[in-house]
Amino acid sequence: MDGNGRWAKKKGKTRIEGHKKGAEQIRHVLSAAKKLGVEYVTLYAFSSENWNRPKSEVTALMRLLEASIKANEKLFVKNGVRFETIGDTTALPAYCQKAISHIKAATKNCKNQTLVLALNYGSRDEIARVVNEIAREAAEGKLKKAPLEYGDIAARLDTAQIPDPDLIIRTSGEQRLSNYLMLQGAYSELYFTDVLWPDFGEKELEKAVAEYSKRERRYGLTSEQLK
Ligand code: IPE
Ligand code: MG
Repeated sequence: MDGNGRWAKKKGKTRIEGHKKGAEQIRHVLSAAKKLGVEYVTLYAFSSENWNRPKSEVTALMRLLEASIKANEKLFVKNGVRFETIGDTTALPAYCQKAISHIKAATKNCKNQTLVLALNYGSRDEIARVVNEIAREAAEGKLKKAPLEYGDIAARLDTAQIPDPDLIIRTSGEQRLSNYLMLQGAYSELYFTDVLWPDFGEKELEKAVAEYSKRERRYGLTSEQLK
C-alpha cells in the first residue's frame, strides 16, 4: 500500500491524512477482492523499517491502526472476514496489541475471506526469528529432523497458515519488494501500477487481476510441459 504521502502532498494535505484515506480504501479493496473470488488479501501496513520514520508519523500510524481495527471489527464479523497478522506484533504499542487480539478473537470463525495485515513485518526479520527458533530447538535437542527442507522453514514462518500469494501488487510506481514476503513470493506474479494507494479501488484491482489472468505460471517448467 504505497503512495499515501505523495497522494496527500498532491492534495495539499498532511501525510497522516493520506494514511487515513489509505486506511479507508481497505474495506473497498476487500469487497472488490471478494467479488473477484480472492480469499486471502495481505496488506503491507507497517514494515520493520518504518520505525525509522519521524516519531510523530509512527505514533499517528499506530493510533490510526488501532482506530481502523476498532472501526472495522463489526463489519468484518458481518462480512465473515477473518483478521490475521504477520510480523512481530509484540513490538507494537500495547493499545494496538489489545485491539489486534480483540479483532482476532471476534473474527476467528469467519470463513468468507481472510485479511492479513503485515505489521512490523520484514522478511529478513521473519527469517532471523525462524533461524533463532530452529537454533534453540537444536540446542535443546528438540530438532528431530536433519537436514531440514524448505517446508520445515515455511512451517515456522509467520505465514505458516496462509497460502503463498498468487499476485503481489505494489502501488505508486515503485518497482521493488522492500523486504515483503521474499520467500513466500518466490513464484508470485508481480504487478506494479503508478496509481497511488488512496486511489486504488475496485477498477484498479480488476485491472490487476485481469493482467494476472494473462500470465503463464511455469514454476520452472517449460510452456509445453504445462499443456
Ligand atoms: C504507504 O505510504 C504507507 C505506509 C508504509 C505506512 P507512504 O507513507 O510510503 O507514502 P509515500 O511513499 O510517502 O508516498
Ligand atoms: Mg512509500
